[in-house]
Amino acid sequence: MNRGTAIDVAYLIAAITFILALKGLSSPKRARHGTFVAAAGMVIAVGATFFVHDLGANHDEGLHNVPLMVLAMVLGTAIAVPMARFMKMTSMPQLIAIFNGVGGGAAALVSIGEFLLHRGDIHTLATYQVLEIVLGILIGAMSFSGSAIAYAKLQELMTGRPITYPGQQIINGLIFAGSLAIVVVLLVHPSMALVWVLLALSLIVGISFVLPIGGADVPVLISLLNSFTGLAVAASGFTLNSNVLIVAGTLVGASGILLTKLMSQAMGRSLPNIMFSAFGSAAAAGPAGSGEERPVRSGTPDDIAVLLAYARKVIIIPGYGLAVAQAQHIVRELAETLQARGVDVFFAIHPVAGRMPGHMNVLLAEANVPYGELKEMDEANPEMSTADVALVVGANDTVNPAAKTSPGSPIYGMPIINADEAQQIVFMKRSMRPGFAGIENELLYDPKTVLLFGDAKDSLAKLVTAIKQA
Ligand code: TAP
Repeated sequence: MNRGTAIDVAYLIAAITFILALKGLSSPKRARHGTFVAAAGMVIAVGATFFVHDLGANHDEGLHNVPLMVLAMVLGTAIAVPMARFMKMTSMPQLIAIFNGVGGGAAALVSIGEFLLHRGDIHTLATYQVLEIVLGILIGAMSFSGSAIAYAKLQELMTGRPITYPGQQIINGLIFAGSLAIVVVLLVHPSMALVWVLLALSLIVGISFVLPIGGADVPVLISLLNSFTGLAVAASGFTLNSNVLIVAGTLVGASGILLTKLMSQAMGRSLPNIMFSAFGSAAAAGPAGSGEERPVRSGTPDDIAVLLAYARKVIIIPGYGLAVAQAQHIVRELAETLQARGVDVFFAIHPVAGRMPGHMNVLLAEANVPYGELKEMDEANPEMSTADVALVVGANDTVNPAAKTSPGSPIYGMPIINADEAQQIVFMKRSMRPGFAGIENELLYDPKTVLLFGDAKDSLAKLVTAIKQA
């Protein structure tokens, strides 16, 4: 086997590992394994690429500047590994945003590099070659600047609220149409000056499309931008004649768009609604209530421990607050303590509970909660009316009945976990503040509801102690 064939075989193996990794990532049980398979595939792909040098008669096809490439890889690793290790689980969406943006930016730089390489003979490039390169710039730069703004919103470096102004959609539409017009002109008359204009406009498109999107919708947007980055990488693959980049980019593009669709469905909203409705702006969300104080029923850990200890069935509904409090281990201990007393306990998982896909599954898996005790929303809801207690730990929007009953509500149509159907509802939260959608939850005022105020981790610890003594 000559070197060229060996490299192609290595790329094929890498492509297969990427597909197997995606399959692994589709289940919490195999997700960790899937990540290792993907990493192994990436090592094979990158390693094989270093043997590409001096292939072919044309020196341009070879590998140049190896020391610079190694330096870039060392720097990238030195920055990325500590970031990934030390970033909190709740900050994972912004980590994905920044990594995704860097990928899009790299794809755009590859395309610009290709134009610079051919700037002397730019008119000799075939139309399809120019198309690959300009698409790499357009999509990659949009994804880079959009992801940077998404990161800034989630990291609270800027307001998470939608930033809107009159005529915004029209202006955004015009900027985007302008970029497409430049793409067309470049196909007919390729010129370096227009490439720089396209780059600038693409960066502006990315920023202007993300500014009006509210913090709650940013994770969906990140998934969409991730898909864009995949397409930009695939375009770079065509430009560099790299099959492995084409396959990897296409896989990222396709899986990103599927994830975006699944997330929008779980939020009961269409993608255009998420992208263009400025959901979560002060006007859309309204004040978190009318301002008047309404009575709620709150309990002590001892009261609630008795309720739980003598129940037959308890369904635990975790949400974003569980992640904030890092209460996954103590909630598992609570479930075990109740099970030891013969109580039937399981966790009901809403697909968009928390702030990223699979957030609750990841947290509870980290605490070694058996997979059999995690039930998806559709599986859990039919059992809700048979539960003595629905224990809501740091969830709010995902159990808010307004999604079913209030057509005017911004979350109307979102499927929810029907905690309201349980015999009793216990809410664990710190205050009467709303969830991410910024709207009031009538279930907090329901006569069947008891509130246990405080940080979820502290409250759960008090409950475990009290149940053991009950
Ligand atoms: P939320 O509706 O955001 O409510 C979280 C609740 O946790 C709040 O009521 C908060 O009340 C409480 N909380 C926060 N820190 C706490 C702590 N340390 N201890 C106890 N309670 C604490 O959560 P959810 O029900 O999981 O809903 C998720 C929301 O995010 C939905 O609107 C969803 O559409 C949106 N979203 C999710 C995703 C994905 S993929 N998961 C993507 C985009 C948007 P206090 O402040 O009073 O404690």
